[in-house]
Amino acid sequence: MTQQSIKSEIRQLLKERNAVLLAHNYMRDEVQEIADITGDSLGLSIEAAKTDADVIVFCGVHFMAESASILSPHKTVLLPRLDAGCPMADMVSVEELKVLKAKLPGVPVVTYVNSSAAVKAESDICCTSANAVKVVRSLSEGELIFAPDKNLGGFVSGFIDKKFHLWEGYCPTHERLKPEVVKELKKNNPDALFICHPECNPAVVALADHVCSTTGMYDYCKKSSAQRFIIGTEAGILYRLRIDNPDKEFILASPALICPNMKLTSLEDILDALQTMQPVVKVPEEIRVPAKRALDRMLAIPRD
Ligand code: 13P
Ligand code: SF4
Repeated sequence: MTQQSIKSEIRQLLKERNAVLLAHNYMRDEVQEIADITGDSLGLSIEAAKTDADVIVFCGVHFMAESASILSPHKTVLLPRLDAGCPMADMVSVEELKVLKAKLPGVPVVTYVNSSAAVKAESDICCTSANAVKVVRSLSEGELIFAPDKNLGGFVSGFIDKKFHLWEGYCPTHERLKPEVVKELKKNNPDALFICHPECNPAVVALADHVCSTTGMYDYCKKSSAQRFIIGTEAGILYRLRIDNPDKEFILASPALICPNMKLTSLEDILDALQTMQPVVKVPEEIRVPAKRALDRMLAIPRD
């Protein structure tokens, strides 16, 4: 089958199943190209909950499909590759979190959306890379547990005078970007702005002209009067950056910025998922309800 015939079969099945195809900003180009909606992990789930589709095909990683299931319990959520996980989300388990909570009674838990539904269910409030500062500011307590990303947590702590208990988690993909590489690129491209994701190592973040979520990068690069940008996040983001800004140049800060999990999903996998209506991701009610509480508490904070 050619790529074109797979794509038209996917479109046909999406119609027949009343399904919506979501793709994270890090997905393969051809997957982003065929998606109904592209975006960041939480933005996609919020959009999916708004549609009247019966089925959500989530092209992303497992925790993202779980978020869609939490927010849309009556829709069928398909994750074309069940083996697409997130190593950072796996760095915190419910059991470990319970142990830390017991050591720090009364200290609220702020959990990055890059986490399992079960960990969200043990948390007081969730955050994304776009709203983490606002979320932490919204808490009345002067102390908090931040899980699982120590880099995002450390970045946020620079803006707020509160005591942070940082979980020792990190994104292996963003962590592969080294400050020496960025320094060299900046030296060779003095006119380019360096933009990075807060999941990067603090030594990399310190070199950035702007630090933001993936959605923040689209907005920033579009509005900026600069012509050239060095991009410090997963390579998939370049697809839309280049389409949206044909007159600007984007340089990936390192060829190591590829998340193997985000690259698993192929067009064939999507077609297969739509044909078989498998694999389904469904969060059980006893986890979904408390996890939704943590997400809802975050969503209640006004966006800019
Ligand atoms: P955002 O798209 O929410 O910025 O998240 C980045 C990420 O690493 C998702 O896995
Ligand atoms: Fe997880 Fe990092 Fe991959 Fe995102 S880019 S899915 S945080 S490993």
